[in-house]
Amino acid sequence: MSTEYLSTEAKLYPVPKRLLDPSLSPTPHINSIEQYKKLYDESIKNPIGFWGKIARETLTWVTPFQTVFSGGFEHGNIAWFLEGRLNAAYNCVDRHAIKNSDKVAIIYEADEPGQDRKITYGELLRDVCRFANVLKAHGVKKGDIVTIYMPMTPEAVVAFLACARLGAVHSVVFAGFSAESLRGRIQDASSKFVITADESRRGGKTINIKNIVDDALKECSTVERVFIFRRTSSEVSIITPRDVWWHEEIEKYRPYCSPEIVNAEDPLFLLYTSGSTGKPKGILHTTAGYLLSAATTFKYVFDYHEGDTFACMADIGWVTGHTYIIYGPLACGGTTILFESTPLYPTPSRYWEVVAKHKITHFYTAPTAIRLLRRFGREHIDCHDLSSLRIIGSVGEPIDPDSWKWYNEVVGRNVCSVIDTYWQTETGSTIISPLPCAISSKPGSATLPFFGIDLAVLDSTTGGEIKTTEAEGVLAIRQPWPSIARTIYNDHNRYFNTYLKPYKGYYFTGDSVTRDRDGYYWIRGRVDDVINVSGHRLSTAEIESALIFHPSVAEAAVIGVPDDLTGQSIQAFVTLKPNCSTDVNDLILQVRKVIGPFAAPKKIYIVSDLPKTRSGKIMRRILRKIICDEIDQLGDLSTLSDPNLINILVDKVNNS
Ligand code: WT7
Repeated sequence: MSTEYLSTEAKLYPVPKRLLDPSLSPTPHINSIEQYKKLYDESIKNPIGFWGKIARETLTWVTPFQTVFSGGFEHGNIAWFLEGRLNAAYNCVDRHAIKNSDKVAIIYEADEPGQDRKITYGELLRDVCRFANVLKAHGVKKGDIVTIYMPMTPEAVVAFLACARLGAVHSVVFAGFSAESLRGRIQDASSKFVITADESRRGGKTINIKNIVDDALKECSTVERVFIFRRTSSEVSIITPRDVWWHEEIEKYRPYCSPEIVNAEDPLFLLYTSGSTGKPKGILHTTAGYLLSAATTFKYVFDYHEGDTFACMADIGWVTGHTYIIYGPLACGGTTILFESTPLYPTPSRYWEVVAKHKITHFYTAPTAIRLLRRFGREHIDCHDLSSLRIIGSVGEPIDPDSWKWYNEVVGRNVCSVIDTYWQTETGSTIISPLPCAISSKPGSATLPFFGIDLAVLDSTTGGEIKTTEAEGVLAIRQPWPSIARTIYNDHNRYFNTYLKPYKGYYFTGDSVTRDRDGYYWIRGRVDDVINVSGHRLSTAEIESALIFHPSVAEAAVIGVPDDLTGQSIQAFVTLKPNCSTDVNDLILQVRKVIGPFAAPKKIYIVSDLPKTRSGKIMRRILRKIICDEIDQLGDLSTLSDPNLINILVDKVNNS
């Protein structure tokens, strides 16, 4: 799939009438383009007034802030709500439990259909407090980094919030990562505590994640304690005194724990993500700014109302899960679905059964899942009552217009708003998206910026801003917003060099973009060595170093190739050391082992040599053209050291 499809001449899809009809839908927070524009202009011209007011209305502060923000992109010293003090767990749980303890906070839809469970705000508060007391008893205190490696269970949410309650910083590692990846993240954060489970269950399969943790911890001298939640009750090894059982520990402590009041700028969490170089970066988000943007985008971008049931199908191990399964919905006192299974288990109807059963109003997933379900046909969808749905969203990668239209017609039955939300781990919350009751959509465009997001399109060669409405270049942002990442853990220089240095005075997103004549934004994809497979972000360098780790591999070049299902797929060219042999499956296994199954290359070509410049730099551009069957567009080959290699590589690819 190429991004050529993004013709900006697309038809406008107006807001469905049903959403503006007070007899059929709740009264929208923002109901017209004029109202959006007015507020947007105000948010850009007067960010202090705009965010100050929203911050006072949205969050509960123990000490009010006096300064809305300070610092900026020039020095990388961004801070929001400086003097303010608060607790994130109090904002996500206590205040709602105090108001209505019986309101459902979490609907846990377990892997096996029929095993769903509802957790009220009152129960959530007790669970969070008990577990916070457990953590405290084992020495967790404010500022400590706690690694969470857990399946999609309510206890994972409890673990997040128990950390937040103590002012500890969670670092959640997606439970699909390998032992080596987990180890790297624990080591980088010098984490002393790990929260995990015996096994995870997904799509009917169980994985012994405790074994993975044991393996990871072989070289993590900092870890003092591992808390194990019992998910499946299967036998696991217990290493005393390091390992303790969740269910035994919580028996010991009372279900109240006073929240640790932290400063607005104290860190709430770290989340490791891939960059252009091999080493994942620990993106750091702070308490007040992150929570405020999570709550504010949840309210406006999803037009959330009391009584809604929100389903974000992402994993809690990615930023989408952090912001739109946990912090956004809970900060607003909403009901959030926690879905442990897959779209295909036990049948391709699973999502729609869940929507009908829980009368879900908002459904949020990635284009890959949409494309996958589309292949299975609409008969799996048409037989379910989806009339509760009002807003359906897409996130993580560009959505092709055909899939957008299918989603709108088959899932949304032309009466829901479809919102394509663009954002990043670093932005903390959505930054470009239609407001569902105010902004008309164009399939394939994320449309217009959220409040406070001051976008600029820059010329990638001159760095100058393109001021015309119609523009093509790289996407950058002029002013900080509350949930922008503040640093990369222990590597502020890398933060500065990656985001703030490339275009002085701007935050650089790493994406290229087109702005059409209506001012709509069309994200074209990354301009760096980051690839996006099924909405999962990976760096080519990270996969290359996993391959080179294999004893037989001499060199590796990884490229992202357009893919009809997964957006991009990973393909690799590898050369072997003299007198060494291996097969492709062994190399794929190597990547699964080093990074995780989701990073497995779709194809690996073992070749005699890689195209290089005379100074020895691998020319990935040529490899990409060969794979995409565009050898007539190889471009300038004058620097290529061995021109004969091209034909050899073309033959190899064609015959594999
Ligand atoms: C990269 C960020 C957003 C949370 C999940 C991914 C791509 C994300 C869209 C979209 C086109 C998108 C960008 C971005 N991306 N959403 N709606 N349309 N591209 O977060 O792992 O930090 O990845 O995902 O390339 O830079 P992430």
